[in-house]
Amino acid sequence: EHDLEKKLPLKGKKILITAGPTYESIDPVRFIGNHSSGKMGYDIADCAANKGAEVILISGPTHLQTQNKDILVRRVQSAKDMLHACNEYFEEVDVMIAAAAVADYRPKFVAQEKIKKNDETFSIELEKTEDILATLGKNKSKQFLIGFALETENELEHAKAKIQKKNLDLIVLNSLRDNGAGFGTPTNKVTFIDSKNNIEPMPLKPKEAVALDIINKIIAHYEA
Ligand code: CTP
Ligand code: CA
Repeated sequence: EHDLEKKLPLKGKKILITAGPTYESIDPVRFIGNHSSGKMGYDIADCAANKGAEVILISGPTHLQTQNKDILVRRVQSAKDMLHACNEYFEEVDVMIAAAAVADYRPKFVAQEKIKKNDETFSIELEKTEDILATLGKNKSKQFLIGFALETENELEHAKAKIQKKNLDLIVLNSLRDNGAGFGTPTNKVTFIDSKNNIEPMPLKPKEAVALDIINKIIAHYEA
């Protein structure tokens, strides 16, 4: 029994993870999206499942697939779809990790027909999308809530503000300033900041190794 606890330290825990970009429709053939590959979220999902957790992955559009066959994958397109899918599972999970690169804005009106190129200039009115993590943070009870922050200036200050604003337990600050960190790269340079203001900068690592560091934070939380 001791061996099982060591090998599968997250057995009995349910973890909800968001990953990938969201696509926000402009018309039937176009959307607003971003370059997120989804790799960070998929690596976290596989790592959590390999440690024995029951994993529900809410994924935006990506070609990635999970390695661990036990993961429940729900594929969605927009921020609104992603929030609705998260709401279905949030109450029953122990941990939520928001690794998705959710679009901040969407077209206020979606054209029913393909937009024709009539005018020399063209603009689209945008409205804010739902903040998935902040919404779940408001409804949090027992859940250990982990968010990401992508910043290019005043990194620590901005990341700390997100902990407060979204009611997080831990934030993973992604440094884009270091070469080899962020979108489209196999590596990430992160800093962990928790709700008690402990700050832990990590070296540049493969995303799989960053995923393991995050999972170890969760294991440490339940051991404490
Ligand atoms: N997030 C979310 N829903 C959104 C926007 C962001 O769940 N509509 C989550 C992301 O998955 C991430 C965290 O919130 O875990 C922070 O995302 P980030 O883009 O860094 O922050 P924003 O709150 O969107 O603020 P800004 O982009 O202005 O820095
Ligand atoms: Ca954002």
